Amino acid sequence: MATVVDAEYLKQIEKARRLLRSLISTRQCAPILLRLAWHEAGTYDATTKTGGPNGSIRNEAELNHSNNKGLKFAVDLCEEVKASYPKISYADLYQLAGIVAVEITGGPSINFVPGRKDSTEFPEEGRLPDAVKGARASHLREVFQRMGLSDKDIVALSGGHTLGRAHRERSGFNGPWTRDTLKFDNSYFVELLKGDTPGLLKLPSDKILVEDPGFRPYVELYAKDEDTFFKDYAVSHKKLSELGFTPDYFGLTLVKLKSAWSNLCGAHQKVK
Ligand code: HEM
Repeated sequence: MATVVDAEYLKQIEKARRLLRSLISTRQCAPILLRLAWHEAGTYDATTKTGGPNGSIRNEAELNHSNNKGLKFAVDLCEEVKASYPKISYADLYQLAGIVAVEITGGPSINFVPGRKDSTEFPEEGRLPDAVKGARASHLREVFQRMGLSDKDIVALSGGHTLGRAHRERSGFNGPWTRDTLKFDNSYFVELLKGDTPGLLKLPSDKILVEDPGFRPYVELYAKDEDTFFKDYAVSHKKLSELGFTPDYFGLTLVKLKSAWSNLCGAHQKVK
């Protein structure tokens, strides 16, 4: 379905951003919204140009993929926002929610450009990385390279595990990666370098980031330098959120200029 980004659409995006901020604060659901945005986008296949951030995760068949256990809560929460701002595509809404989740927990600002289209087609199961198979660096590289992402993106984005926790009934794993599960910072990398710590989780796909010589330099860098982590994370997250989507910067600038112009004329009329 086409998504027309006009002045009204942009207004709804800003209002949805505010509503998401308030819902995330009151319901403390930043981690699951970030995971929703990632699982929706992370199915992208750059060769066939299928999957990716296209709203398809709301379909029962995809939501029931075993990797997506627990995400219904996040989809339902976004549905509350959609009810108030129906013009916004699901594809935009889920990515906006992921970006707001990172920002509101203290993470970097991530540039959001609207205009993603919704699709009714959904990808087959098995496109997302597997935590156990992730003990092999080649598994992570295969999955992320299929999306068109690099080693640096893999490590930076894995920093998303600074938020939230694993739940035994969803994934078979249990526990948080960091001491404060609602604070987006570089502690995921600091903890990774410390090795096993009682009470904190390290998935096989986390541990490999320290063991593989291609990944490790980024872990060391991000553990030492939070500013660089935030800068790289914002770049990688924007890439993830725009897989298969070409933002129309020109069209967007035109809409903003037109709306600024009509506001100016309105103000002028009032003064007269
Ligand atoms: C590198 C491959 C990855 C693997 C194998 C992986 C695997 C997992 C697993 C097994 C869980 C626990 C689910 C549960 O039991 O509730 C989880 C949670 C989570 N993942 Fe990942 N993940 C990966 C990458 C990412 C990325 C790229 C992001 C975001 C940018 C991310 C964000 C999260 C968040 C925020 C949670 C916590 C959700 C909650 O608290 O409910 N993960 N991940």
